Amino acid sequence: MTYVTDSLTVRDNRTGQEYDVPITDGTIRAGDIGQIKVADDEPGLAVYDPGFLNTASCRSAITFIDGDKGILEYRGYPIEQLAENSTFLEVAYLLVHGSLPTKDEYDQWVHNITYHTFVHENVKSFMEGFRYDAHPMGMLMASVGALSTFYPESRNISAADNRAIQVIRMIAKMPTLGAFSFRHAQGKPYVYPDNELSYAANFLSMLFKMSEMKYEPDERLVKALDTLFILHADHEQNASTNAVRAVGSTQVDPYSAVSAGIGALFGPLHGGANEAVLRMLRRIGNVSEIPAFIEGVKNGNEKLMGFGHRVYKNYDPRARIIKKAADDVFDVTGVNPLLAVALELEKIALNDEYFVKRRLYPNVDFYSGLIYEALQFPPEFFTVLFAIGRTPGWLAQWLELVQDKEQKIARPKQIYTGDRTLDFTPAEERWA
Ligand code: ACO
Repeated sequence: MTYVTDSLTVRDNRTGQEYDVPITDGTIRAGDIGQIKVADDEPGLAVYDPGFLNTASCRSAITFIDGDKGILEYRGYPIEQLAENSTFLEVAYLLVHGSLPTKDEYDQWVHNITYHTFVHENVKSFMEGFRYDAHPMGMLMASVGALSTFYPESRNISAADNRAIQVIRMIAKMPTLGAFSFRHAQGKPYVYPDNELSYAANFLSMLFKMSEMKYEPDERLVKALDTLFILHADHEQNASTNAVRAVGSTQVDPYSAVSAGIGALFGPLHGGANEAVLRMLRRIGNVSEIPAFIEGVKNGNEKLMGFGHRVYKNYDPRARIIKKAADDVFDVTGVNPLLAVALELEKIALNDEYFVKRRLYPNVDFYSGLIYEALQFPPEFFTVLFAIGRTPGWLAQWLELVQDKEQKIARPKQIYTGDRTLDFTPAEERWA
């Protein structure tokens, strides 16, 4: 289709007046709509969009998604190619810096991240203060927020070199904090980073090392974990990234902004979904119970967790890659018996009119929980793995935000529906 003019003509039937609103990149500016008024002293027209279903909050050059076609690209590179041929740290570099590294840039980046994996001993004692049964996401959120007190210079967000070191620190320390939260729940001593190991291998070492001198994880498991981190590295303006951007728009330090993102990720409709998937699969337990479960979903009793996505109305490309990674992991660990339930559930749902009509397909979380369980992670730890993977994405988006001259403090409008101009009666008179 060719467009004659890139503008929209709006006729306000309250006044009969017409307005030409420019269209740029398939969007109109909410500010242009705000000029449509009944009278000069009246507020302008606004757009009501709970959950931002159709509102762009920024211009971004980081991640492209075509939800109808099931396409995901980081900085223009298809996720399938990155998952197959890249490493998590290279992808992190790509997201943060905008292009692939040269050999020297890559070596320096890996060196920097590897040598910032240690945390201050006070961070360790801070984490030890949590209750024995503290949820690891609560611990991660609090400890990342606490890093802002260890690096007060991080508040100087206008200095590029200062931003750069905080980005390195956060990507480097996230597995350490995640692993401490894991060991805490098990009452095991925290394990310090091993800088001779790769990013994912060191993480596994900090999780599972006991009395051995050196922990040597199976390379196939290291590769699977690295791939999972790549798949979670960014996903444009998802709920947690939106939280990072909203909090970051106040010009607070990046630790506080990312800590807000971790809070958003904790929710069961976002990163908490894979934990919910596993609990759901356990509850179903057996393939023979699936029809009754599906009926319950269709009757609105509950959701089929791990299905559906705000953006993907097609198979989530990450779910396809994860399904393959699951096979690689199961080669090492043995097949998770819940896999049969998941596969059958997917088969039934993909052929059921309820799900077809609503375009509900498996999302990234449908199979990831099965892999995580095979790797011996308890369900409450799954979202921590997601957070480690998502950290470069949050930071790339934060960097983009703080350098974007058009961005302002995020402060949405509301439609006020409450009372007005009531007379206040003091409590002692009301309760008399
Ligand atoms: N099971 C059953 N029905 C569903 C599901 C599901 N998983 N997801 C959506 N639907 C139904 C809704 O009830 C609604 O039906 P209706 O039109 O009859 O009211 C319709 O499909 C549209 O769903 P919405 O909730 O409007 O879609 P929205 O884009 O707001 O929500 C979301 C997307 C939150 C992901 C939703 O699909 C969901 O809750 N899925 C389960 C949780 C999940 O797996 N989350 C992980 C997302 S991926 C990630 O964060 C990494």
